[in-house]
Amino acid sequence: MPTGKRFKIACIGAGNVGSTAAQYCLDMELGDVVLTDVVEGMPQGKALDLTQAGPVRGYSNAAIGTNDYKDIEGAGVCVITAGLPRKPGMTRLDLLEKNGRIITDVCENIAKYAPESIVIVVTNPLDVMCYLALKKLGFPPHRVIGMAGILDSSRMRTFVAEELGVSMENVDTMVLGSHGDDMVPLPEYTTVSGIPITQLLPKDRVDAIMQRTRKGGGEIVALLKTGSAYYAPGASAARMVESVLRDEHQVLPCAAYLDGQYGLKDVYAGVPCLLGKRGVERILEIKLTAEEQGMLEKSAQEVRSGIDGLKELGIL
Ligand code: LAC
Repeated sequence: MPTGKRFKIACIGAGNVGSTAAQYCLDMELGDVVLTDVVEGMPQGKALDLTQAGPVRGYSNAAIGTNDYKDIEGAGVCVITAGLPRKPGMTRLDLLEKNGRIITDVCENIAKYAPESIVIVVTNPLDVMCYLALKKLGFPPHRVIGMAGILDSSRMRTFVAEELGVSMENVDTMVLGSHGDDMVPLPEYTTVSGIPITQLLPKDRVDAIMQRTRKGGGEIVALLKTGSAYYAPGASAARMVESVLRDEHQVLPCAAYLDGQYGLKDVYAGVPCLLGKRGVERILEIKLTAEEQGMLEKSAQEVRSGIDGLKELGIL
């Protein structure tokens, strides 16, 4: 495999999210990408297609498609998107059993072939799958991180920018908690060039934006009918890969293993993380209102019930 000394990124799952993450990683020139899937021919075909976009887009990193986990050897980062997406009417928790079994198999292979890698989990139900991956991989928690907060925050940034007619670049925000209906958007940490949106919009508009953010994934599922979102999820995963591989120390909301932070223990939830070459280098504990803290605890409870569900199914 012609990967030389360049970074190697394994995208495990070559469906819509995995191949879009691969596309962004290549376009951002982060490294060589190995697209892995159980379906024969599909990762190879997509990798060939991505390679052939290189001359037009101006990247020359390799894209390799494979059905053999051995090819992920030496990957610095593994992005797990393998699993089923939601269909209309489903919650992310409805995917628990099928995706739980898939993640178990994927993690056995990562532990075998890329034992030093940083693992970014994207598969739903996100926070529960992160916990499962941590247990199956046996890696230290700072090397097993979930992608959700960047996506949820990006959705909220979009809605704020549209509402105010301002550039999306000027809007910053933090969405914490689990990646589900109990996620915790933080309006006082949502700013337009430093100005809190609470000073720019009436409360009912802020509330409406928070609610649309919580349902943002479902809105797209209802429109697509055959699956869930993939452009923004793929871009968000690539953003995390970038901060890790380039040791950028970006502060990004990610699902991280909590060991007492925010009063929560032995659970995953979205919190502000400093991402660098060791994975989660640090978890930032920011001030929350009593209501937000309550919402965070409720969302952690939802994650815990998913973890219990995995135990009942004998997966964990
Ligand atoms: C979403 C899925 C990927 O939020 O969870 O679009």
